[in-house]
Amino acid sequence: MAETLRIALAGLGTVGAGVIRLLGENGGLIAQRAGRPIEITAVSARDRTKDRGIDISSYAWEDDMTVLAAREDVDVVVELVGGSDGPALALARKALAAGKDLVTANKAMVAHHGLELGELAESQGAAMRYEAAVAGGIPAIKGLGEGAAANRIERIYGILNGTCNYILSEMESTGRDFADVLGEAQALGYAEADPTFDIEGVDAAHKLSLLAALAFGTRLDFDAVATTGISRIRAADIAQARALGYVIRLIGLADCENADGSRHLFQRVAPYLVPVSHPLAGVGGATNAVVAEGNYSGRLLFEGAGAGDGPTASAVVADLIDIARGNVPPPFSLPVSQLEASAPADPGNRRNRAYLRFLVADRPGVLAEITAAMRDAGVSIESMIQQGQPGDEDDPVLVAMVTHEGPEGAVERAMELLAGSPSLADEPLVMRLLG
Ligand SMILES: NC(=O)c1ccc[n+]([C@@H]2O[C@H](COP(=O)([O-])OP(=O)(O)OC[C@H]3O[C@@H](n4cnc5c(N)ncnc54)[C@H](OP(=O)(O)O)[C@@H]3O)[C@@H](O)[C@H]2O)c1
Repeated sequence: MAETLRIALAGLGTVGAGVIRLLGENGGLIAQRAGRPIEITAVSARDRTKDRGIDISSYAWEDDMTVLAAREDVDVVVELVGGSDGPALALARKALAAGKDLVTANKAMVAHHGLELGELAESQGAAMRYEAAVAGGIPAIKGLGEGAAANRIERIYGILNGTCNYILSEMESTGRDFADVLGEAQALGYAEADPTFDIEGVDAAHKLSLLAALAFGTRLDFDAVATTGISRIRAADIAQARALGYVIRLIGLADCENADGSRHLFQRVAPYLVPVSHPLAGVGGATNAVVAEGNYSGRLLFEGAGAGDGPTASAVVADLIDIARGNVPPPFSLPVSQLEASAPADPGNRRNRAYLRFLVADRPGVLAEITAAMRDAGVSIESMIQQGQPGDEDDPVLVAMVTHEGPEGAVERAMELLAGSPSLADEPLVMRLLG
């Protein structure tokens, strides 16, 4: 058997400990498949004395994780610390500059600095792999970058954040409201103490930007992802969607078109109404799913655990096996210099049906005001439901409507016409129907 692939692990938390357990338990078969043993030589984390439930006594310890990059007994640095900048980025830069291969699960770092790191990797002849950064245990990067490599990808979309999907699924099955389910998810450890990145869609946007670069051969552009989270969704919206034959899912969606001689990349993370018959409607709990539509493959669906020590470690070690085999395609399928620049696509001309929810004052004339704004903006209403009994004038009433298919720009115009109206108790909620 060929020489051992020697790795250094930075970060011994959920994922790092999972990698140590996986390499220990499946070491024999991993060595067989990789063609050589994969062994940890050195590790680093914040606290050397912490009980991690794993034996790290046979590995060298570095207090300063960036020192791992300079060790002669290390071929691959595995970064499992997290954070877009700070020590994780310093380590990644040093490792690649030293000609070491880099494996990371850090979507935030790759979304923000992937082009720089990819260029550095290429200039050093090193590998940069990040399978675990998108949808945990699902081989979405490999599936898209290798399995579907012969296709022109028409569209890529999916459920990219397990916390949001868990919250929406719970709201759906229990009828409870967002804040209530979020509190429970935090108590159970399914949501972070500070859940902002998850519930406001930022984590999904990190992942979507990586998938988009890979799918369309465009330069990574995280800043151009239009991001809306799930915190404004009410139990009543879920019930209305259900009555119409839909479930609500936080969807990351990207496509790319050529127009006027340049590429226009559309990237959006937002809650969508998904028809119950669509495969993504059945993806419940913390599960993730990625759909890629290839011009020859047709619709490909990758589904599985988007987080957790085992699934994420599985993706990290898959990258290590590829490196051990010498299977190291460029980080974004194409060399960074060949990725094409793109302009953010104008969503105004995209044609969609939309779900609109208003909280309105319970008094005469309000519905007429809303429907007049729709008419003036050219939005055609397909159905409308008013919820609740007429009661106290001060209690707002929920009005939900679904539009016929039309340009998104028309709905935006209608919202502008209604902005600031004293009839509205809250900013209207707009969600698109997944076509
Ligand atoms: N958890 C998942 O299911 C999952 C799924 C996909 C991707 N990821 C990604 O994987 C990465 C790791 O996630 P995780 O859940 O394993 O995180 P975690 O449990 O919080 O572990 C982070 C590790 O990094 C160490 N660390 C943090 N700051 C450090 C610093 N300044 N200097 C040295 N060490 C430091 C910690 O040391 P101590 O242990 O000593 O405190 C800990 O061992 C993140 O990029 C995350 O986004 C995680």
